[in-house]
Amino acid sequence: MTASVSFSEIFSVIYAKEHRLMSTRKILVTSALPYANGPIHLGHLLEYIQTDIWARFQKARGHQCYYVCADDAHGTPIMLKAQEQGITPEQMIAKTNVEHQADFAGFAIGFDNYYSTHSEENRQFASQIYNKLNDGGYIKRKTISQLFDPEKQMFLPDRFVKGDCPKCGALDQNGDSCDVCGATYSPTEVKNARSVVSGATPVLKDSEHYFFDLPAFGQMLQDWTRSGSLQDEMANKLQEWFKDGLQMWDISRDAPYFGFEIPGAPGKFFYVWLDAPIGYLASFKNFCDKTGINFDEFWRLDSDAEVYHFIGKDIIYFHSLFWPAMLHGAGFRKPNAIYAHGFVTVNGAKMSKSRGTFIKARTYLDHLNPEYLRYYFASKLTSGITDLDLNLDDFSQKVNADLVGKVVNIASRCASFITKRFDGKLSAAVAEPALLAEFVAMGDSIADSFEKREFARAIRDIMALADKANQYIDAKAPWVLVKDESKQQEAHDVCSMGINLFRVLMHYLKPVLPLMASETEAFLNSTLCWNTYQQPLLNHAVNPFKALMQRVDPLKVQAMLEASKDNLQPQTSTKPVAEQAAKTDTKAAASAREPISETISIDDFAKIDLRVAKIIKADAVEGADKLVQLQLDIGGGEVRQVFAGIKAAYAPEQLEGRLTVMVANLAPRKMRFGLSEGMVLAAGPGGSDIFILSPDDGATPGMRVK
Ligand code: MSP
Ligand code: ZN
Repeated sequence: MTASVSFSEIFSVIYAKEHRLMSTRKILVTSALPYANGPIHLGHLLEYIQTDIWARFQKARGHQCYYVCADDAHGTPIMLKAQEQGITPEQMIAKTNVEHQADFAGFAIGFDNYYSTHSEENRQFASQIYNKLNDGGYIKRKTISQLFDPEKQMFLPDRFVKGDCPKCGALDQNGDSCDVCGATYSPTEVKNARSVVSGATPVLKDSEHYFFDLPAFGQMLQDWTRSGSLQDEMANKLQEWFKDGLQMWDISRDAPYFGFEIPGAPGKFFYVWLDAPIGYLASFKNFCDKTGINFDEFWRLDSDAEVYHFIGKDIIYFHSLFWPAMLHGAGFRKPNAIYAHGFVTVNGAKMSKSRGTFIKARTYLDHLNPEYLRYYFASKLTSGITDLDLNLDDFSQKVNADLVGKVVNIASRCASFITKRFDGKLSAAVAEPALLAEFVAMGDSIADSFEKREFARAIRDIMALADKANQYIDAKAPWVLVKDESKQQEAHDVCSMGINLFRVLMHYLKPVLPLMASETEAFLNSTLCWNTYQQPLLNHAVNPFKALMQRVDPLKVQAMLEASKDNLQPQTSTKPVAEQAAKTDTKAAASAREPISETISIDDFAKIDLRVAKIIKADAVEGADKLVQLQLDIGGGEVRQVFAGIKAAYAPEQLEGRLTVMVANLAPRKMRFGLSEGMVLAAGPGGSDIFILSPDDGATPGMRVK
């Protein structure tokens, strides 16, 4: 017998392939729930835009896809902030919810439901899950001793304690870590501790806490991690956490607390991070109840629906350990995958209020078109978790070159002839079938890029096609053809071809640019979805063309930065409560400037050997959020390693190559991460407001500063 394949075998393969393409998937997508005590900013928006593009893409493909989110409304910071504003937490979160929804709508984030964790549905799910876990023996109780504010009569979360570093003695450090030496410690070790809330000296107080037995789920989590639910970077991180050993998770907080009381435990509340992810269930349930969609079909153990959580890299622990363990322990299915993304920096540095780069969603919308940002983020997003820099020059340049100069240009060069000369109708013929076929053929691989969250790759492919369309129009020069009476048909065919190429591209761009796509649909008299681009519009009436997008106006970018500086100065209330309270209750707040130190002699000064140093390498430090590891060339062939607490103000890449000043004769200090051989000079109150010194042009490494 020959190794031939029967017709029916071939047919069944083709059928299966077609069938898979045609069958609709059930998909539930979420983004992390933003805290209800602050405005949405451009950092947040990376996540909501990424998720929205993905969800819109799935919907365009005909899948049954839902995108839900909510405000994360509980916790101490929200409680304190409401107090400070003289309103109830309920009033504050209601107001924030309206603002958040308006901001999201402004960026065309198409949630199917936007809710709040302070909802009846969430209370019920939190209780149900807790009771299940408790019945399963996964909740343990233990009395622990914590810092307590005797004035405010409340226990203090770590970030509400400040004091001197127990390791290096640096003044006014955080309750859990030191910006100066990078040490991490427990708030009970802090010297001269004070409450950020009242300024009082905290005392130690015992209280019984409820713990979730995370270690009991160790094996399950290991298996789940290996099942491909996580990006490689994340899976590696988890392996480290498994190696360090999983810990019991403290899920209770004592009154006063804004949250849900634990069933059967008066005065004890669920820690905000317990009921926050449960908010995904609650928002979806609320949506199902309004629409008749079957909730259980998505969440029961044997569900064939897909569930994906998009999150930032800072909250991986909660989503890849606590959340699947809670779901598992309570008899729900687990998510198919967690998709983490990196952080947004602006012009190479962490977003900073004083630089005007802490840009609120609202401030952006007051000045610029939301689709500029959607496009810019899409053009840089990959499936990985590296940070993404919003460089405002690059932003303007890219939007102008790609969207205005390439995509819209295709249509605007052809449309006016269709309207003026050809009765507003596209021709009956495809002028260049091979070119159109090439555009259509790219659809599958562009779809594959969207599916895999490789948006940058999709955009690159789309722009390469846009270049081809423009080259075609350049070569045919319809503006010349129309002048020749004998070439009217050709002119009509070429312009129609241009519009059809533009149309294919707008199909591909629709998940990224829903607003421009909807204007395009009005112009084309035809809807764009993932199964309509294969057939061109022939003999089809279009509407008069209006400019679909304006160029980025550099003055408006400037005005946005200015407004970001202004509206953050007087409005201290938008800052996290802890940060704000910390600022108002220090001496620094009374006089704007720190007092000048005691007089020293020139000899005292001469003891300090300051040198010009060149930063030849800068790296983030694994396990230290605030530190950057610097390699400094200090001349004479010597390279020094210094750990500097400047991560909140500078992205490492941004530091490489620049000159600064260091204390070269400071005794080396052994830190957790290695030896620090000196100190780099910087000014500023801390956090993202740190400014490192630079010498003037001409200075070279090793020069002494005198
Ligand atoms: N409330 C929690 C999430 C609970 S989810 C059950 C929270 N809220 S947040 O407001 O701080 O952040 C919301 C999301 O925005 C998070 O995924 C966070 O990583 C993301 N981002 C916040 N600032 C960001 C940047 N600067 N850049 C990118 N994403 C950022 O965490
Ligand atoms: Zn220290």
